[in-house]
Amino acid sequence: MNILNNKKILLIICGGIAAYKSLEIIRLLKKKGVIIKTILTKSGSEFVTPLSITSLSQSKVYQDLFSLENEAEMDHISLSRWADLILISPVTANTISKLANGNSDDLASTVALASNKKIFIAPAMNVRMWEHKSTKENINKLKRYNYKLIGPEIGDMACGEYGEGKMSEPEKIVNELENYFKNLRINNKYKAIVTAGPTNEYIDPVRFISNKSSGKQGYEIAKSLLKNGFDTTLISGPTNLEINDDINLIKVETAEEMFQATLNCLPADVAIFSAAVGDYKAKEASKEKIKKIDKFNLELEKNVDILNYISNHNSLRPRLVIGFAAETNNLEKYANEKLNEKNCDWIIANDVSNKKIGFNSDFNEVSIFYKNKNSEKLKYKPKSEISDEVVEKIINHLN
Ligand code: CTP
Repeated sequence: MNILNNKKILLIICGGIAAYKSLEIIRLLKKKGVIIKTILTKSGSEFVTPLSITSLSQSKVYQDLFSLENEAEMDHISLSRWADLILISPVTANTISKLANGNSDDLASTVALASNKKIFIAPAMNVRMWEHKSTKENINKLKRYNYKLIGPEIGDMACGEYGEGKMSEPEKIVNELENYFKNLRINNKYKAIVTAGPTNEYIDPVRFISNKSSGKQGYEIAKSLLKNGFDTTLISGPTNLEINDDINLIKVETAEEMFQATLNCLPADVAIFSAAVGDYKAKEASKEKIKKIDKFNLELEKNVDILNYISNHNSLRPRLVIGFAAETNNLEKYANEKLNEKNCDWIIANDVSNKKIGFNSDFNEVSIFYKNKNSEKLKYKPKSEISDEVVEKIINHLN
């Protein structure tokens, strides 16, 4: 059975000469049994007609945000809830800008803003428009918002110029959608645990020892696992971050709580220990607020090493155990030591002395050290993209 059979796809067609290719997309999707609804933007309707879309998709075309007829039948919220997936193809520089900035002045942008579904975008525009800094910034924003980009490709453009900006071919686009649903089906049998953020180790009821971890990389990995179909649990120390309701989020404060929560979530197929767990806690935390005194000695004792404990107990150990290492020097040496000492399959290491990738940054640059093969580097890019690449490697490993 074709994976796309009976899937509901909302296709949004924006203005551009490539809009004609969306008719071919409809034809290919229909052949695979997809149920399609279409939104045609005002400029899209300059290039393809509602009649041609309806003839191919065998369903109504939605065009107006404030059409009484549409609202009675299916409003912008219901349209986005109806779909299993949204494809915007072609998407123009203008619509990209609207999506990146949360504008909602027409049906297409309103549906996208109101959507709780995966949104794929296939850009089509002139090479200069594609390469313009504003478009690049908007695209980076959309990637962070978990939009999935297909293309664009390099080639001869309708305007006579040559470069990057051509919409991907319909076959490639349909292929990407197929892969997305395949991954969802394959991966939802896998359970993943991610630890993230710092821990607070209390000295007394109002004071604690903590660290500067923002939790961003761990949250992005959890998001990426979720969107790839994993049954995902995120065990998070205190952060200011928010996350999709579909994630099983367990909030903890101390290393001990994180340890217990992790044990409770096992067994799992993969565990990613990205939390910056406090190595030490107060030997005896005071139950009452400690008063100011002249000389104050704080005795510390070691916290349990969650990663080390789990990876060295065969009955608990997930199939794939990934640790993190934040180092200021000797990255390779220390990462390899952690790989062995903590019995990890992979260590994801970053150089925290690098100012570009500071603790609260949305960007990162990491090296992955493997037990059985050479390390590899993921160059400076948004943490969301680093996460997508890591999760792709996890999928390949598990399958
Ligand atoms: N880790 C853990 N529990 C701890 C300490 C660390 O699970 N109590 C995990 C982290 O989540 C990370 C890895 O171990 O995946 C590396 O942690 P790190 O603190 O960098 O390593 P340490 O062993 O504490 O070494 P050092 O601080 O000396 O570099």
